[in-house]
Amino acid sequence: MSTTETQWKTIIEPFKIKSVEPLGFSSRTERKKLLERAGYNLFNIPADKVLIDYLTDSGTNAMSSAQWSAVMRGDESYAGARSFFVFESAIQKITGYKKVIPVHQGRAAERILFAVIGGPGKYVLANTLFDTTRANVEGSGSVAVDLPVKSAGEFQTQAPFKGNMDLKALEQTINDVGAQRVALVLMTVTNNAMGGQPASIENLKGVRKICSRYRLPFLLDAARFAENAYLIKMREPACRSLSIPEIARRMFDLADGCLVSAKKDGLTNIGGFMALNNEEWVRKAKEILILGEGFPTYGGLAGRDLEAIARGLEEVLDEEYLKYRIRSVEYLGKGLKKAGVPIVEPPGGHAIYVDVRSFLPHIPPYQFPGQALACALYLEAGIRSFEIGSLSMGSGTIESGQFTPAKMELLRLAMPRRVYTQSHIDFTIEVFGKLAAEKKKIHGLRLINDSKTLRHFTARLSPLP
Ligand code: F0G
Repeated sequence: MSTTETQWKTIIEPFKIKSVEPLGFSSRTERKKLLERAGYNLFNIPADKVLIDYLTDSGTNAMSSAQWSAVMRGDESYAGARSFFVFESAIQKITGYKKVIPVHQGRAAERILFAVIGGPGKYVLANTLFDTTRANVEGSGSVAVDLPVKSAGEFQTQAPFKGNMDLKALEQTINDVGAQRVALVLMTVTNNAMGGQPASIENLKGVRKICSRYRLPFLLDAARFAENAYLIKMREPACRSLSIPEIARRMFDLADGCLVSAKKDGLTNIGGFMALNNEEWVRKAKEILILGEGFPTYGGLAGRDLEAIARGLEEVLDEEYLKYRIRSVEYLGKGLKKAGVPIVEPPGGHAIYVDVRSFLPHIPPYQFPGQALACALYLEAGIRSFEIGSLSMGSGTIESGQFTPAKMELLRLAMPRRVYTQSHIDFTIEVFGKLAAEKKKIHGLRLINDSKTLRHFTARLSPLP
């Protein structure tokens, strides 16, 4: 039976559970102390003191029994391991790209790529870069420019493809900076930094056209390519009758290559790759790879990791899985809205983003409302989430007189894949209902130690009265 062939209202988890892991129960008194000790930074909380962990969907996936058996087939040879060829051919089959380079995780692919094509005076244009991608572009001396569609910033609008690139702005920017200075056009699918929203085939075609006209390379940051493909099937009428692998292939066909963190749609706990057609880039990338990651047939991974990724990439394209996956995220979103919590609409692929500016208008951006909510959620029930607002995306502090707020104040609840069930989500909704009823009791925070790069990882804060 396939639930796609029937009219059942209930969409079930398409797996049964063979191996379980206990959740981290704790008391409120304990959590209060832990928060103080952690400097109100949830990265400093021991994971076994977290009940439900929505910090990230990255590397937190449950592997299938087929992946675990593939792990046992891992060939750990230094060079030319059989597992590399399994990995390479799985990726070639899905993407159609000629050359595959494994790396230990997505940001290693970013660092290598921008060492090859970046550098001072160059530009990288994107729908929106993820923060490590931006840091690697800027680390190479290049300038990163985000060109999302306008609707991406309008949280209440129900537009289906808020992950799209603003095509007019893309062409305008190419003309403004000069095509010869554009190192790359990159589409992040789905667009993690802007609500996990998908990009459409139509928009990718538009980007392709512009890139061809100006002879610019076009890559995908395809960490969540399968979720993007499923949302295309649901939301883009022209693609409704295509299978998920067909849609994924259309996405890849429109670009010249991809960077992938396999810790998301690879359904594994570590790994990544770049897949490219440009032989010159591949040659240079391999030289850098050997310095930092290892020989090009393992790239910082064990043979068993390569096997698990190859199998994960196959499993993630299963429509029954994606239906459950996207439905779980949507279910959390709908529940939160019912509980009086505004979210970024419509729910995207991997996470629900709470619109904290609307939810907690009494906390100004310089008191880090997203982080205040993250701490309140942890204190209330041990649930861990991730602030995407003035702490992680802004700079300076009000006390230093140099505070720059982020464009948005969001709280991301990212769903690990195949890990939690509906009752975990129901519980989360119930906790948010309590927070919504008592939201005036949530107070802002003060940042005690500031740092220039990715400060949210090391930040220490204290509660304001
Ligand atoms: N690109 C996107 C779109 C990502 O979301 C991430 C990671 C990366 C690249 C980097 O990959 O972690 O394997 O080095 N995102 C995680 C997150 C960390 O929580 O969203 P990585």
